Amino acid sequence: MKNIKKEIRDGSNFNSPLGVGGGPIGIFDSGYGGLTILEKIRAELPEYDYIYLGDNARTPYGTRSFDVVYKYTLECVIKLFEMGCQLVVLACNTASAKALRTIQQHDLPLLDPNRRVLGVIRPTVEAVGEMTKTKHIGLLATLGTVQSNSYPLEIEKLHEDIVVTSEACPMWVPLIENNEHLSKGADYFVWKNVKNLLDADRFIDTIMLGCTHYPLLEDKIKAYLPEGITIVSQGEIVAKSLADYLQRHPEMADKCTQGGSIRYLTTESIEKFASSASIFLNEEIQAEHVDLG
Ligand code: DGL
Repeated sequence: MKNIKKEIRDGSNFNSPLGVGGGPIGIFDSGYGGLTILEKIRAELPEYDYIYLGDNARTPYGTRSFDVVYKYTLECVIKLFEMGCQLVVLACNTASAKALRTIQQHDLPLLDPNRRVLGVIRPTVEAVGEMTKTKHIGLLATLGTVQSNSYPLEIEKLHEDIVVTSEACPMWVPLIENNEHLSKGADYFVWKNVKNLLDADRFIDTIMLGCTHYPLLEDKIKAYLPEGITIVSQGEIVAKSLADYLQRHPEMADKCTQGGSIRYLTTESIEKFASSASIFLNEEIQAEHVDLG
């Protein structure tokens, strides 16, 4: 295999070895969080084949720099491309915030201009504008997503009149990845971040869960919210947006193979992935190890 990453960096004389043809839809996350998106996508579009890739060996991404999140995400996208995926969904807000634009603008034209990488922020922002009445929205997300300012910037482009207040929740992903999210200890961190958010803007009527892990905390979050505040979690929004995308792009839909299959890949141990993934999916799964090197 040619050194794709080096050739992309160097920029010149790059002939992509990826080849043509069809393949599964790739779903990527830094860890397990993207499984909450995968589940809804498969419910909406059960006919397609999927490969899920969790970069569990290097999770969490939420506290890492732009350069590192970009590098890790690109490596995972290339791996999914090498496995035949023509379309990859970054089912990770942190990667969507920090890596998507550069991959779309810089790397895809070099790798294969006919393949596509989509994120989760744009569809969420499109949907949320219709949900708020007060025009005050809250965002709960990783530190990386909050610091990127991606949500307020995207919202400003589409809904000028909406005010966004963000709260970074750096403890939530580690609690979930360690299966501690239903513990009493988790209550404190959920209470603290929800309180900070509502104290910062008392007019919020809609809260976006801007991290694909957070649906697992939804019941705890709800417990600390006053009546009348709606929680928006992304799974169904992203699934519907993908269905819409495939309808509008039949040339891509034709390249996504239809066999209803799913493969789970992890950069960590397969036993650990299989046991933790079942928390997210409520079913037993088999995982495969993948090396990105
Ligand atoms: N699930 C990822 C997201 O949506 C973040 C988890 C992480 O910090 O790696 O942002």
